[in-house]
Amino acid sequence: MTNPKKSIHGEWSSHWAFILAATGAAVGLGNVWKFPYIAGENGGGAFVLVYLLCVIIIGIPLLMAEILIGRRGRQNPAYSLRDLALESGHKPFWQWFGLGIILAGFLILTYYSVIAGWSAAYVFIAATGTFHGASATRITQIFSQLVTNPYKLLFWHTVIMLITVGVIAKGIEKGIENAVRFMFPIMILLLLMLVIYAATTGYFASGLTFLFKPDFRKLTSTGVLSALGHAFFTLSLATGSIMMYGAYLPKKASITKASIYIAIADTSIALIAGIAIFPIVFANGLQPSAGPGLIFQTLPIAFGHLPYGSFFAVLFFVMLLFAALTSAISLLEPTVAWLIETFHTTRARAAIIAGIIIWILGFLTIFSFNILSHVKPFGMTLFDNLDYLTANIMLPIGGLFIAFFAAWLISKNNVRDELQLSDRWLFKSWHFIMRYITPIAIVVIFLNFVGIIKLNSH
Ligand code: TRP
Repeated sequence: MTNPKKSIHGEWSSHWAFILAATGAAVGLGNVWKFPYIAGENGGGAFVLVYLLCVIIIGIPLLMAEILIGRRGRQNPAYSLRDLALESGHKPFWQWFGLGIILAGFLILTYYSVIAGWSAAYVFIAATGTFHGASATRITQIFSQLVTNPYKLLFWHTVIMLITVGVIAKGIEKGIENAVRFMFPIMILLLLMLVIYAATTGYFASGLTFLFKPDFRKLTSTGVLSALGHAFFTLSLATGSIMMYGAYLPKKASITKASIYIAIADTSIALIAGIAIFPIVFANGLQPSAGPGLIFQTLPIAFGHLPYGSFFAVLFFVMLLFAALTSAISLLEPTVAWLIETFHTTRARAAIIAGIIIWILGFLTIFSFNILSHVKPFGMTLFDNLDYLTANIMLPIGGLFIAFFAAWLISKNNVRDELQLSDRWLFKSWHFIMRYITPIAIVVIFLNFVGIIKLNSH
């Protein structure tokens, strides 16, 4: 059957439920853990500017493209792409690209779950008052005691995968929608409380300067590529997450509005997280370029010296955990939908099978912080390799493909029908951006990275 009217998996209860779920998917470790540490590693302001440009020029148009493909196809990304290709008179083999997209999300979840596990572990470490009055050395020790112990990491990775599989097994409305509706508002509240705390450190202005004052001498070509990769990562693009959620979107909802809301919410939360974190980093004489451990090694020092610090620390890591869970869920859904539609198995069974494979692959990330930390293909740990391969290579290539598919392959009429951009001018600009601007921007950033063209001096 081509283009079923409704997905066999169900539908969101309203377009707001979709926006909430998609925002929950977008807002995650990417915003609170990854954005501050890669902004820190890449020198702040200039990197942030490139990232913002990527969100506007590449992110929003691609969000629209993914949602429209999902909603018109009403199936997992591979079959939606296949049916949309057929509908416009092309070959069904395009579904293989869909599988590649699903695979990217699948691989990301293998390490995402491990890092989400760190947040869960930190909720408990903070609750026991361990950070109270602790020195920087002690805090670093706590972090390394966690990550160098494969059993602890394995335990928390297992907990996260169990919750994720549990939610997905319950389905769209009962599982995903309820979980996100509960977790998301709590998260926002906690983040705002942290900003208020950051404002009392006396280093608020230094934090803002670091984040918003561009210094282009600090921007490398890897930095530009990471900004692009991060725009994809943080908006959950190019892995089928958003395409999949689009498949459950009611027909009447406006795709353009939803995309803009999602992008604004996601970007604001990343910036708010940065505004909360950097003043604390500077107030304690810490390094913004500390890497993946940044928030785990720096924030507890601050919390340890704050009145009610342990309380705020628990809140912070609960928030991070919730943000991570709503994203982990979205990373699993495309694989599960594909399994159900391909093997006609039950949702629960599909979720468990996918969960087990991801759980096992997660060992690679777990071991790269301890027993395999000396294994460094391409000069990076296994975790860094996975992150680099997915975020900086697979996602941009996936994005390039989605832009090509939406703007060149499927017929203009079908796209217009689905997007319902009443304004001719609006449709034309979106189509133009998707056809030329987005692909050219992605290619230029890649060429800059491999050194064929030079956007910046190093
Ligand atoms: N966007 C989420 C974050 O920022 C992570 C995430 C969820 C994701 N789904 C995704 C990343 C799909 C890439 C692709 O933490």
